[in-house]
Amino acid sequence: MSDRLERIRLHGAVPQHIAIIMDGNGRWATGRALPRPHGHLAGMQAVREVVAGCLDAGVEVLTLFAFSTENWQRPASEISALMSLLEEYVAKETAELAERGVKVRVVGELGRLGESSRQAVDDVSQRTGSGSNLLLNLCISYSSRGEIARAARQMAEEVVAGTLTPAEVTEEALGKRLYTADLPDPDLLIRTSGEMRISNFLLWQLAYAELYVTPVLWPDFTREHLYDAILEFQRRDRRFGRVTA
Ligand code: FPP
Repeated sequence: MSDRLERIRLHGAVPQHIAIIMDGNGRWATGRALPRPHGHLAGMQAVREVVAGCLDAGVEVLTLFAFSTENWQRPASEISALMSLLEEYVAKETAELAERGVKVRVVGELGRLGESSRQAVDDVSQRTGSGSNLLLNLCISYSSRGEIARAARQMAEEVVAGTLTPAEVTEEALGKRLYTADLPDPDLLIRTSGEMRISNFLLWQLAYAELYVTPVLWPDFTREHLYDAILEFQRRDRRFGRVTA
């Protein structure tokens, strides 16, 4: 067993939910004089690494920011390379994900995806539906402000229909209308490539998450880097706005 994993287990407190902004694929490729999509391809290997690392460490939920609504503004060639990668990931990994008990859920504005990508999303969700070791949330065509606005719109419609009163519009009611309704909030947010930003990711859910930024570019991120982040998490003093005893 990895020495880091052993130390994580000795400490005991593993984050239940880890969220990751996988950044730096473009810089990884550019630094090697390769086209940007090569960085995304290399990034897919890092996705495999963290999924395996989370399974071994006992993390229950892993949420990955794979494609933002803002990413639709990238060149068409890069968008189509990313969508092809998603389809490739599903084609290659679904059987093993199902076997290892990983349940995949894809969230975001999925109506904007092309037919073959939507098919891949349906396929992986359906074939991994009974997994209970790790929930892998893939955020695709996702924007946190969009998600919150959608929840607010739903509640407004319910108030108009008379099924919800304005007094019932609470934090809890809004949380229940987010894509993450049934999940604990992330305990730990990891961002690779050194940028100190949240970039419209899980703005509501990250309220009390511990933030961990590493200069490592996403394609270079391994399970040992993941374990370093968890070890750092275990050293943090989480107070949730209160004082420590
Ligand atoms: C950010 O790097 C990364 C993305 C926009 C895409 C993330 C996608 C993957 C890791 C591959 C596929 C994933 C799955 C789950 C199948 P960037 O392009 O913004 O990098 P830069 O900031 O260096 O330009």
